[in-house]
Amino acid sequence: MQPSLLEEIPQVPNPYPVVSKMEYPEVWRLCVQARELAWDPVTDVDYSDLAKADLAPEVRKAGAEWWSLRAWMEHGATPYGAERLREAIFSHQPFEVKQHITNFIAEELRHHEASFRIAEALDDYEPTPRADYFKEIIPRFHDEKDEKQMSFFAGLSVNTLFEQLSGELLQARYENARYESIRTACRLILRDEARHIQFGRIIMRRFFNELTPDEKRVIGEKVAKKLRGSLLNGVYAVVNLPADERARSGRNRALAADHGLGATHPDEEIAIIRRGVNQIRKDVGVYGVEIPYIPELDGTTH
Ligand SMILES: [Fe+2]
Ligand SMILES: [Fe+2]
Repeated sequence: MQPSLLEEIPQVPNPYPVVSKMEYPEVWRLCVQARELAWDPVTDVDYSDLAKADLAPEVRKAGAEWWSLRAWMEHGATPYGAERLREAIFSHQPFEVKQHITNFIAEELRHHEASFRIAEALDDYEPTPRADYFKEIIPRFHDEKDEKQMSFFAGLSVNTLFEQLSGELLQARYENARYESIRTACRLILRDEARHIQFGRIIMRRFFNELTPDEKRVIGEKVAKKLRGSLLNGVYAVVNLPADERARSGRNRALAADHGLGATHPDEEIAIIRRGVNQIRKDVGVYGVEIPYIPELDGTTH
């Protein structure tokens, strides 16, 4: 072969050596639990109570909008997970790390599935966000440029801090739900999320003491940026939305909450997020990671 031709052959990342020697037994324990606690959004949740429920058409629509939004959020974790799996493979992480990330992707996808099935049982699942601002926010939910500024495990731990926060919100939504199907789905999703959060705790314990001050600063900044840039923009809460959309989606979210469809009232969300972020501040503060001031949360008192 001519040397010039050889130069054109793209560099294929090398998966070898493939590491099977266990390095993180606690992560492997999570993988074993994931196998034992696997569930099926079709057979483990009976959505017929929603189809039969006596709900006004506008309430059904509001509920379907809300659960469509939840479905998109859950789906947002899958491209993120795919990138991390790729990185884990080519940085030769041990088997249990790749298995955990693979489980994470499958679990987020079944959360997505349970959510769109709830939307469908209420009215129609919306495959695309209606508002333009949202079409722009959803793809930015996961920005690979931000991820690449952190080390592999630091990035993973930032993600799990958000798992913790969405867990808090989902707990409130579970408590709001008056339909067995929605309660079951929330409970099963929360059970998976508990493992995702646990993974974060394991890697924080393991890696956070070794981070440089610079890396710690970047982690804090990334958490604040993601919260303000996407999660408070209609994903976790409606606070940063343009006024008209804030009113419209806030009204629908309130309607879904008032009828026990597993939603949170927009007025409650900021307090839940603030409590969650303050807990996270305590958790990461132990390692010297500081989450900067977030005006939407820290600038309000109720
Ligand atoms: Fe999830
Ligand atoms: Fe998760």
